[in-house]
Amino acid sequence: MRLDLVSIFPEFFDVLDLSLIGRAQQDGLLQIRRHQLREHTTDRHRTVDDTPTGGGAGMVMRPEPWALALEGVLADVTPDPAEAAEPAPDSARPTLIIPTPAGAVFTQSIAEDLARREHLVFAAGRYEGIDQRVADWAQERFEVMPLSIGDYVLNGGEVAVIAMVEAITRLIPGVIGNPVSLEEESHSDGLLEYPVYTKPALWRGLPVPEVLLSGDHARIAEHRREQQLRRTREIRPDLYARHLAQRGDHLA
Ligand code: ADE
Repeated sequence: MRLDLVSIFPEFFDVLDLSLIGRAQQDGLLQIRRHQLREHTTDRHRTVDDTPTGGGAGMVMRPEPWALALEGVLADVTPDPAEAAEPAPDSARPTLIIPTPAGAVFTQSIAEDLARREHLVFAAGRYEGIDQRVADWAQERFEVMPLSIGDYVLNGGEVAVIAMVEAITRLIPGVIGNPVSLEEESHSDGLLEYPVYTKPALWRGLPVPEVLLSGDHARIAEHRREQQLRRTREIRPDLYARHLAQRGDHLA
């Protein structure tokens, strides 16, 4: 998978060189390129923002540096149309993800969908956001997805990009060591994960649930399912209601 990350603070993305994502890059499973948006300005002050048309607080990101940066990303991967035998099909267009609190909420099922794609481009804006015409202009060149990582406001899109890149890339085969753990974790089946324990069996007066020491795999699986349902009902009644509607598997 190829990832292009565009920002006025591309240094934010240095954390992606650590740990499992760093290893995946070294192993050639992932290619991550960072781009400095200011390199696509033409004025002496390398200005990327301007006042909001129509009035209002804060600043808005100017469209032209974004178009130039995104054209640069495309030029690097798209064969010269004059040489291509026929136009690229829709599915061959890269995906452009624009992190914004005004986007659809990024979920595990969106991460699973994005993990199957070849090329993702992330446009991390700052200030009050990017001029809307960038997303409109990009529709012809990319599949455009404005996405939010939750109902709160960050100072910019960079941290949201890092969260999404981590959620997406760990689903790529070979990126994490044990793929079985992907199937058992929270959200993979619409429920929260069951509580986990390790040794010792008694710690500071607190025992692990007896059933987990029984060696009876069927009872353990049943206990864990019950814990998943209980936790989800208490902490995320919204997910529990959706689960009941879809599966009909519920607590007595
Ligand atoms: N930029 C600012 N806040 C954000 C959020 N919650 N999700 C994605 N991008 C953002």
